[in-house]
Amino acid sequence: MTAVQDTLRATSAGFEVPALPDLLRRVLDVTSDPRSSSRDLERVIREDPGLVIELLRTVNSTRYGLRTPISAANHAIVLLGIPVVVSLVSGLLLLNAFRNQPGLDPNRLCAVWRNALACSGLVNVLGRRLPARQRDHAFLAALTQNVGQLALARHFQERYDALHRCGPFPAIVAERRRLGVDHAGVSAYLLDQWRFPREVIAIVEVHHEPERYGGDPREVLLVAVADGIDRVVTERPESLTLATRPPARCLERLASLGWTWSDLVAEREELLRPVTEASRLVHAHTR
Ligand SMILES: [Fe+2]
Repeated sequence: MTAVQDTLRATSAGFEVPALPDLLRRVLDVTSDPRSSSRDLERVIREDPGLVIELLRTVNSTRYGLRTPISAANHAIVLLGIPVVVSLVSGLLLLNAFRNQPGLDPNRLCAVWRNALACSGLVNVLGRRLPARQRDHAFLAALTQNVGQLALARHFQERYDALHRCGPFPAIVAERRRLGVDHAGVSAYLLDQWRFPREVIAIVEVHHEPERYGGDPREVLLVAVADGIDRVVTERPESLTLATRPPARCLERLASLGWTWSDLVAEREELLRPVTEASRLVHAHTR
């Protein structure tokens, strides 16, 4: 973490760590308490009228096809489900920490947010066979893994955009070579500053290199597999069939999470749902 900090200081003055909204801290506290209910979550969310409006706007969007518009936050939470609401609210609060920053492309904000929503939703599906504690760590890690991209994009501006134009997906090696840091390290650095649980920070720091993880490998593999499935479903949804022969490494990772390829194909619709839901949410908020 110190190396990331030193590099960021050396690149130029003024690498700012956006403040973590107090409300996000409280949302995370509520959701990490197994005794919490949708009412507790509603109580926190209601402190920010803007969030309540966003929540109602989401659930009342045409996509949900409700005959009668909903006007109560708790009703929206029950309809969307707590995991979707936590992803949505956390994503909105994190984005607010970066919104209106000069030089930050709104498309990048949307892309990072969409991926965060999709991956955290996929973690909930894929992590059903793991203990809740490990799934919770992976959920938060999936939600925040690429927040460092936003910080790097804002800090390096055209240099970062040019680097990402070279390929369809963040090239972590290119980031290290050209910037001296990578987005995984910067995400971990931000989460450390924001006092996230150390297990979550450790997962985020190596989310592109799960073999470097020092804890239970299933925690980091859950995030890596969710990210891989998001990419497959987004780019080639037709490949999620029994006729496909996934690489051996992919099958090994699935097996460590208690899944086989045929399980995955059988639950195709459930896996597609968080990804389409994420696109829909981002679309609903950026029209
Ligand atoms: Fe990443």
